[in-house]
Amino acid sequence: MLLLSLTLFFSSWHTFVYAGDQSKGENCTVTNNRLEFGTYQFHSDCDVKTYCSSQGTCELKGCRKDQFPFGYAPGDYVPPLCPPGQFCPDESDACQPWLPVGTPCQLNRDDQCEPPPNWQQLADTSKYGRNVNGSVCLNNVCMWANVTVGQPCEVENTAYTAYAGSNEFLDVVSRGNCQIGSYCDSQSLVCIQTKQLDETCDADKECSSFNCLRKGVCGRGSDTPKHFGTLVYAVVGAGIFGGMFATLITLFLIHRRQRDQEREKRLQYWCEQNAFRRSIMQMKEIARTSILSLPGGNGNSNRSTVCSRAGSEESFTPMIQHSVHKSSGLRQQYLSDDNGSSYDEIMMQAGQR
Ligand SMILES: *[C@@H]1O[C@H](CO)[C@@H](O)[C@H](O)[C@H]1NC(C)=O
Ligand SMILES: *[C@@H]1O[C@H](CO)[C@@H](O)[C@H](O)[C@H]1NC(C)=O
Repeated sequence: MLLLSLTLFFSSWHTFVYAGDQSKGENCTVTNNRLEFGTYQFHSDCDVKTYCSSQGTCELKGCRKDQFPFGYAPGDYVPPLCPPGQFCPDESDACQPWLPVGTPCQLNRDDQCEPPPNWQQLADTSKYGRNVNGSVCLNNVCMWANVTVGQPCEVENTAYTAYAGSNEFLDVVSRGNCQIGSYCDSQSLVCIQTKQLDETCDADKECSSFNCLRKGVCGRGSDTPKHFGTLVYAVVGAGIFGGMFATLITLFLIHRRQRDQEREKRLQYWCEQNAFRRSIMQMKEIARTSILSLPGGNGNSNRSTVCSRAGSEESFTPMIQHSVHKSSGLRQQYLSDDNGSSYDEIMMQAGQR
């Protein structure tokens, strides 16, 4: 995994930074072709679209090894991929037939080597890059990854320079020709069975998950999706519904308390109104009896003035409103102005009498 991502990273970055700047038809020197130190990226004097021909000039590339090669603008001519049975070398001059076992190949180019007859059995299907169709290029020699557990094997350790932010560190990638399910031990040079989860390890290649954790045990594969048990789903579901119901119940309780408070206020208001009504009736009664008992009074004009005050229902409305606000708190809803306070005082005194 790391090897793959590193290769991707460096091919995307260093192609632009370190590729030669000679374009088609310009001079170049074939002996300048090399792998960059640390990254092992192929380098030549020519730019990304050309290769250095044996005549010493840059020529358009004749093939490509990547499905989506870097450095091409939309509409540019892109050289073809090679057909099955052939490969495109790092120089990308032309397709070549697969190389037989034992012949030289280029670093990390397992795809240049001819696959074994039983390649379907030996192929690495995990995409960890341990071999390509059962063939592997180790120390620049084509081999098959067919060595079984306990048999002598070959190993190739490559130290890449890796970057994490501004930090620079070495990342050693160790490859061997053991069959999938085993790895080539760098000390004893024999194939050893890969380790299962939680067994101690020193390198990724020792784990069947290809992931040796920092604490020195094999972990799950870095590409394994995370699965949760049904218990987690149950707890989360219960949490969601519990939260919903708790919110509903809390709101219901709060609103019920507010409703009770409002009801109490209205009841109080009603009681006050009732008490006022009764006292007014009483007052009316007192007024009538006092007028009737006046000695020798005709009282026509007097009666009319008092009765008009006490008898008219409309004239009492301000007084009721003013008195209410002192106790029930509903005043704001019914009262808009503060007129007629002197009139109220008269009526209050009348009430107290
Ligand atoms: C290429 O090299 C030849 C001889 O080495 C030289 O005469 C010529 O000027 C060079 N051309 C460029 C473009 O550098
Ligand atoms: C294993 O691969 C090597 C080449 O790497 C080959 O010479 C040898 O015959 C193969 N052995 C078997 C049993 O296929």
